[in-house]
Amino acid sequence: MQGLQNLPSNKWVVETFTVRLKDKDQSYPIYVGQKSLLSLGKFLRKHTLKGRVVLVTNPTVGALYARPVRKALEQEGYGTTLFEVPDGEEYKSLETARDLFKDLVEAGTDRETIIAALGGGVIGDLAGFVAATWLRGVPFIQLPTTLVGQVDSSIGGKVGVDLPEGKNLVGAFYQPRLVVIDPVVLFTLPDRELRCGLSETIKAGIIGDPSILTVIEKQRDGIFRKHADVLEDLILRALKVKMDIVTRDPYEQKQRKILNLGHTFAHALETATGYETYHHGEAVSIGIIGACLLAEGELKFPRKWTDRLRYLFGEVGLPITHSQDPGDLLAVMGADKKKKRGKLVFVLPQKIGRVVVQEGIANNRILNALERLQEDRLWQK
Ligand SMILES: NC(=O)c1ccc[n+]([C@@H]2O[C@H](COP(=O)([O-])OP(=O)(O)OC[C@H]3O[C@@H](n4cnc5c(N)ncnc54)[C@H](O)[C@@H]3O)[C@@H](O)[C@H]2O)c1
Ligand SMILES: [Zn+2]
Repeated sequence: MQGLQNLPSNKWVVETFTVRLKDKDQSYPIYVGQKSLLSLGKFLRKHTLKGRVVLVTNPTVGALYARPVRKALEQEGYGTTLFEVPDGEEYKSLETARDLFKDLVEAGTDRETIIAALGGGVIGDLAGFVAATWLRGVPFIQLPTTLVGQVDSSIGGKVGVDLPEGKNLVGAFYQPRLVVIDPVVLFTLPDRELRCGLSETIKAGIIGDPSILTVIEKQRDGIFRKHADVLEDLILRALKVKMDIVTRDPYEQKQRKILNLGHTFAHALETATGYETYHHGEAVSIGIIGACLLAEGELKFPRKWTDRLRYLFGEVGLPITHSQDPGDLLAVMGADKKKKRGKLVFVLPQKIGRVVVQEGIANNRILNALERLQEDRLWQK
């Protein structure tokens, strides 16, 4: 079997968690385990999913994992169809969704057809959006293959596509019927993508589980050697933080906002640089340090913890400074706030493991944090 079967792993234990939502029909299991994808057909059967499986992937992930995943399904009697969309965020679009709808018509699908996302967050969001809207909703399963996908985007039911006017503007809350997280597939993930996943993993640590930071500090080499046990341990910790939050607030009315730690700064950096300089996780690491700097002033967040996080991000190769004009970045934040008719909201750490949502922070304080984040000025003030 190509790709998966031959990748190194020591364990065959699959752990099951359930995201328990008020509406019981919306609750769903998450399977986590090395080579768990090879049992996909059994999981579907256990959850009485019956239809043909349409696997949505891209050529990069498809070439690596489509064959073993299809085989795992076919062994259990599931028919499979493979849809490939081009690789890249620019294809998380209405145009690609339109192409997929057309493919679904041609493939002769029905309401039992299962749409399965095999890929990173781009594929997950896009395929989820198509599943949510096709025939007013067909069963959807998430098979995340990036660290971002495994600790963040596959859990919580946010699906959607981008518009030229902005990211994630069209979408829905649509829960998957199940999620299968196989750490072994991260073996082929490029290091830059792994680092982006680590950025969101560290975010989870600051929000809800300080042990995540200790694990990364101690196991950095194991992570970059893609040691499956180390990755699995990390994924389990980060995914529990996300599960806990989305269970309490599935529709982002309140607590779920804390998942945006570092993201107000990050979105400004991404917009100001036309999404070309930073990958999202890189903008998030800078943004989290920005949030720490703000929190030092607003919440007496201790400088030594900002230092610890700066060091940690640096150790895993993530950026912690920017070289943009602080005034421009503040203007971008203001324009974004206007566009969404909202308020400028920051998530700030109170301590490692606890964050709060704050509005109404004075512009001069934000500007000051943006200035201090600039390459050579960080420690002058
Ligand atoms: N829905 C949510 O709650 C949520 C949360 C966070 C992010 N997102 C979205 O997720 C997207 C980013 O996701 P991402 O960071 O996973 O990026 P991605 O999906 O673009 O994947 C990154 C790259 O890695 C490749 N890849 C994926 N798995 C691989 C593997 N196992 N081996 C080798 N290469 C592999 C992909 O082909 C791609 O080139 C953004 O669109 C973002 O908006 C959504
Ligand atoms: Zn993010």
